[in-house]
Amino acid sequence: MNTLDIELVSVSKSFGAISVVKDLSLEIPQGEFVSILGPSGCGKTTTLNMIAGFNMPTSGDIRIRGRSQVKVPPERRNLGLVFQNYALFPHMTVSENVGFGLRMRGVAKSEIATAVSAALSSVRLEGFGERYPKALSGGQQQRVALARAIAPRPSVLLLDEPLSNLDLKLREAMRVELKEIHDQLGMTFVYVTHDQEEAMAMSNRVVVMWQGEIAQQGEPGEIYRKPATRFVADFIGRSNILSVHRARAQAGFLEIAIGGGPLVLRVTRPLSPERVQFCCIRPESIRLLPASPPSGDARNHLDGVVRRIVNLGAHAEVLVAIAAGLSLTALVRSSPASALPALGEAVTLAVEPQDIQLLAA
Ligand SMILES: Nc1ncnc2c1ncn2[C@@H]1O[C@H](COP(=O)(O)OP(=O)(O)OP(=O)(O)O)[C@@H](O)[C@H]1O
Ligand SMILES: [Mg+2]
Repeated sequence: MNTLDIELVSVSKSFGAISVVKDLSLEIPQGEFVSILGPSGCGKTTTLNMIAGFNMPTSGDIRIRGRSQVKVPPERRNLGLVFQNYALFPHMTVSENVGFGLRMRGVAKSEIATAVSAALSSVRLEGFGERYPKALSGGQQQRVALARAIAPRPSVLLLDEPLSNLDLKLREAMRVELKEIHDQLGMTFVYVTHDQEEAMAMSNRVVVMWQGEIAQQGEPGEIYRKPATRFVADFIGRSNILSVHRARAQAGFLEIAIGGGPLVLRVTRPLSPERVQFCCIRPESIRLLPASPPSGDARNHLDGVVRRIVNLGAHAEVLVAIAAGLSLTALVRSSPASALPALGEAVTLAVEPQDIQLLAA
């Protein structure tokens, strides 16, 4: 079994009367890449700051490798920190920046030189040691900040939106690099972000936060395929969320009524009928078929009319009205061009029973 690096045990944090983190419990095994993902203001930074020791929990305990940290100051927690504003010292060279923490601890010069060069090689900045920060690009500066955090070899690295100041291309490249650095160093990474793609791309585990609580946690693919709540379904990826008016258990499946009742879908995923309030269908799991004449046994076929097409390059989002006030978005490959329907065209949507996720609320 994996040993736990970090444990949050019923942690709450209030600022005055405002409760920001509510009874949050979380276990982070050694060596994992865990992302804390959620919308702005949900309490991610507050949670990270409590792990780092910059914020004291109002109640609950924070343990690092089994030992309560509540009375341990930040500098004694053996954690590395990387933030959005990487705040390099402008008057120090790259090497001096990276070695800063080690110098503060009084580590011997030769040892610092070895650690600095290992850290720079981890972030692929060999040969940049003598440069000053102003002579580096944003991405390179962020890598220096990363090298500075890993040089003392902390057991845990805490990262708070470290890529959000970089442009999209660089962010995507850095995602891959960060993951490689994690795999190479075997440190535990706790990564805070509001960018779900970033969290999905890098993490072993994603912890989705909402209003100071954990909405769901799990492996990225599982969270995407089986969102537990309406919030998670909506926040992670794109989805069609429909309210369910009636759910009836049948032999081996559930029959749900959507769109005020007339449209019925079969669902094979379990959730007791009384709890079903919504269902989620991912756009990529909806197939677009030529309009088919009504037939008694066409299961999970919905007829509609194309109302909008948004070209996204390789794919297009096709909005299809299936009833008054009810539309579904399907994701369709845009090549060959003949794969795309025309505006106003009558089409049939098909969805497999196992691709419909039922949600409680
Ligand atoms: N020192 C503080 N005093 C009062 N309120 C605070 C303090 N720090 C944070 N908050 C409030 O706590 C809530 C959560 O803040 P936090 O910084 O943890 O959010 P976040 O999830 O990191 O958001 P973002 O994605 O915007 O960085 C916010 O409503 C914020 O205004
Ligand atoms: Mg934050």
